[in-house]
Amino acid sequence: MIDLRSDTITRPDQRMRELMMQAEVGDDVFGEDPTVNELEQEAAALLGKEAALFTTSGTQGNQAALLVHTRPGQEVIMDDEAHVFVYEGAAISAFAGVQSRTLPHTHGEMNIEQLKKAVRPEDIHYPETGLIWLEHTHNRAGGTVLSEEYMTQVRSTADEHGIPVHMDGARLFNASLAAGMSPAATAAYADSVQFCLSKGLGAPVGSILTGTKTFIDQARKKRKMLGGGMRQAGVIAAPGLYALRERRARLQEDHDHAAAIAAVLRESTDLTIRHEVQTNIIVADTDQSSRSAEEWVTAAAAEGAAVIAYKPESIRITTNADVSAAEVDTACRIFEKLGASS
Ligand SMILES: Cc1ncc(COP(=O)(O)O)c(C=O)c1O
Repeated sequence: MIDLRSDTITRPDQRMRELMMQAEVGDDVFGEDPTVNELEQEAAALLGKEAALFTTSGTQGNQAALLVHTRPGQEVIMDDEAHVFVYEGAAISAFAGVQSRTLPHTHGEMNIEQLKKAVRPEDIHYPETGLIWLEHTHNRAGGTVLSEEYMTQVRSTADEHGIPVHMDGARLFNASLAAGMSPAATAAYADSVQFCLSKGLGAPVGSILTGTKTFIDQARKKRKMLGGGMRQAGVIAAPGLYALRERRARLQEDHDHAAAIAAVLRESTDLTIRHEVQTNIIVADTDQSSRSAEEWVTAAAAEGAAVIAYKPESIRITTNADVSAAEVDTACRIFEKLGASS
């Protein structure tokens, strides 16, 4: 099966497994795991932030950030398809006790005028706006990249009101590569940034949260409260460090593979792709297709390609490090065949 369901499905390669075996470890809750410390220092430097924290997952990094930035009863402005709103089990309300103020988006970008209006004025009736949330790349929009102009406008709106900005950069390196920006230049628009080691970079476990030293000191305590004090975590930090060093450049392959598949879907099938395929995710809508999303999933699986039904009327195809160029070719032939029979 050619697995195009997600970039989370990648398995650690031989080198990663060797590094796990060899990793120097210590008790990370005491700050004594040298491999975790090295990973955190390198990640912070790469993103141009003062400090970083190794978390179990992207969700844990996002939730720790929320716990530091906000107080219960505040409101967080985000787009209405943000991962934190759709896929994190309402942890934002359950743990941070804040309310989500969702705005419509276009390819992951909220309308700036609507954003400005959504910031709450001082009034005894209203919640305070505690945080503005960006997702970069934007998953449900189809791995789309936020423009510099948009991020600049969000930042200046936030600064005008003294509100912090968090960036859910689960796929930050896909975003910075596609935008031709350095990770630090990308991260500069946000006070805190979370990125995943376990997605396009191919590490087996973990994410990184970055920010100021004070912010990360506080987030470290929140991570502990969330059950993320991981002791001898060097064994999982080691493949993460390797992934961070060695696997960023190869993300271009995933982007090229997604572009090749998207071209075939556009030319040879009745699926509709309504976004520019900029990175490793394709969201293809089935509203004009003779097959439903579920039928596409079943038909593709029968031919040897795994994709997922995403929204009621879409499938998602995600290229990743475990899918080779030859497999992408095969997947293209599969989609051509399915297009001919639809
Ligand atoms: C945009 C985005 N943010 C956060 C996450 C959460 O990451 P994790 O699955 O590691 O909790 C994901 C996972 O798919 C994601 O796509």
